[in-house]
Amino acid sequence: MAYNLLKGKRGIIFGALDEQSIAWKVAEHCVAEGASIALTNAPVAMRFGKIQELGEKLNAEIIPADATSTDDLNALIEQSVEVLGGKIDFVLHSIGMSLNVRKKREYTNLKHDWMLKTLDISAVSFHKLMQCLMEKDAMNEWGSVLALSYIAAQRVFPDYSEMAEAKALLESIGRSFGYHFGVKKKVRVNTISQSPTWTTAGSGVKGFQQFFDYADEMSPLGNATAEECADYCVMLFSDLTKKVTMQNLFHDGGYSSMGINPAAMKID
Ligand SMILES: NC(=O)c1ccc[n+]([C@@H]2O[C@H](COP(=O)([O-])OP(=O)(O)OC[C@H]3O[C@@H](n4cnc5c(N)ncnc54)[C@H](O)[C@@H]3O)[C@@H](O)[C@H]2O)c1
Repeated sequence: MAYNLLKGKRGIIFGALDEQSIAWKVAEHCVAEGASIALTNAPVAMRFGKIQELGEKLNAEIIPADATSTDDLNALIEQSVEVLGGKIDFVLHSIGMSLNVRKKREYTNLKHDWMLKTLDISAVSFHKLMQCLMEKDAMNEWGSVLALSYIAAQRVFPDYSEMAEAKALLESIGRSFGYHFGVKKKVRVNTISQSPTWTTAGSGVKGFQQFFDYADEMSPLGNATAEECADYCVMLFSDLTKKVTMQNLFHDGGYSSMGINPAAMKID
């Protein structure tokens, strides 16, 4: 059901690769709520993903940008403001990639040049993005910037490997930049810590099925889906959450507050 929560708002959405991507669902929900959006992803994703299909469906411009390149980010922001017809109200950073995870290297045997790349793509890009938005004065007052995180930022999930460090950095950047963006431009910045979700990035984690099932059993409400995450993003982009900022918000069916759940322990 749509409530017109984003009527007249303009947004940029990073990270829609295919219909399983969380960003794909967020893009669909934002447009259903009345927003105009620009879609972006890494140039390589243009070839392998299905973003063109989404762009046609939502009548959204697709502007390729490597999120680690400030030149690309600046060009993306300029073009978005132009095609959307004004300053931006909301931005979703939905980006994660680890070569060490992809190549199945153990946490105690990482390639550190790959690790730096992981941190750059999955976390520092969030800082680069916000710095470019601020320098260009591209955000409207009371705008909202969101990034997607995971609870491995706070707790140990051995197979999540170096992505845990990437998420800890991402959340910290959200808090720190949230201060500056708030004071200077009245823009809010938050991260959403989402349940395990079946996507290309998610299923790249070793033992993802067990990961997913365990979280589902531990959470009193079960895992949050990508569609539900999209609803939460819409709310955080809307004017109903103007004073929510510098938070890491768990969207996980209650998982993060659990100690033991008898359901997961197979106890009656
Ligand atoms: N799937 C899960 O279980 C889960 C849980 C919590 C948080 N998240 C987070 O949600 C976000 C979205 O991931 P997803 O699960 O939808 O998977 P996904 O694979 O669909 O999305 C990841 C996106 O990152 C993009 N990307 C990679 N390198 C890039 C670069 N250099 N520049 C621009 N874009 C780049 C990819 O092209 C892809 O579209 C990630 O931050 C991920 O860590 C996922």
